[in-house]
Amino acid sequence: MTLYIGVDIGGTKVLAGEVLPDGTVGRTARRSTPGRLVDVTLVEDALTEAVQEVADGRRIDGVGLAAAGFVDAAGERVMFAPHLPWRMDPTRARLETRWGVPVALDNDANCAARAEYAFGAARGYTDVVMITLGTGIGGSLVLGRTLLRGHNGMAGEFGHMQVVPNGQACECGGTGCWEQYCSGNALVRFARARLDGRQTLLDDACGGDPAALTGPMVTDAARLGDPVALEAFASVGGWLGVGAANLIAAFDPELVVVGGGVSAAGDLLLEPARVALAESLVGAGHREIPTLQQARFGPEAGIVGAADLARAEAVRPMFRR
Ligand code: BGC
Ligand code: NA
Ligand code: ZN
Repeated sequence: MTLYIGVDIGGTKVLAGEVLPDGTVGRTARRSTPGRLVDVTLVEDALTEAVQEVADGRRIDGVGLAAAGFVDAAGERVMFAPHLPWRMDPTRARLETRWGVPVALDNDANCAARAEYAFGAARGYTDVVMITLGTGIGGSLVLGRTLLRGHNGMAGEFGHMQVVPNGQACECGGTGCWEQYCSGNALVRFARARLDGRQTLLDDACGGDPAALTGPMVTDAARLGDPVALEAFASVGGWLGVGAANLIAAFDPELVVVGGGVSAAGDLLLEPARVALAESLVGAGHREIPTLQQARFGPEAGIVGAADLARAEAVRPMFRR
């Protein structure tokens, strides 16, 4: 049996997993992302460890990398990554040399869209917008069944569209980017700002230390009805609906798939988003409003799509994009 491994490299964690030809995820391994201002070698060491743990001594046929950054049109280099240290970096070739196995590379949200389109929530659709909410916002556009890459390969960077002039500073160097209001980071920032030492579920979860609060803690607390956590989801969900309305105005998709770690919250996130979407979409009374659908693979969509890409490139290596 062949072994293809997908690796999702996000701003917070690295997730690697064996992926079968039908998209099923087998053995997985995770590491924390060493940081965004560290030497790239540290990040690549974390990738190497995660890949080795998944392989567990078996021969690897290919590794697909889903990187949280701007990947060039050829799938060779990570040009820029707000949450990772890669800058105009020939990542694919270097890791291929280091590991001695074929490596495929794409943006993490493009990989997630590939997975959802091949095996998940977007299967059978023609025009789809994918939005992933993790550390930041990832985006991908499938229009007329084709994944759009743009001139530099950088299409779909929805998270860095400015939604608040002079707003919150972003890791990309800009201000007021959509992902500052609508992401895992935004969820945690919102909740932290409202922790006031009263004995709420959130205070308990982080032991009273706002710095220790994580996105999954906010999700768990919201599920149990914690009012601050629910407010955080109402805020992030509201921003999701507004941003989705703008993307729908621009691209007129039939479906919007929402993935990434924050999407695990399901309707806690999607209900406020649907309300905001219906309120802000242009021509709302005179058009179909596309479904806002939770990704089937949730936080595993990136590894599924990346491994599928590696498998596809192995079949036709001459046609590497
Ligand atoms: C990056 C994207 C990435 C997204 C999700 C953004 O900040 O610019 O390239 O897809 O985060 O990880
Ligand atoms: Na993208
Ligand atoms: Zn930004």
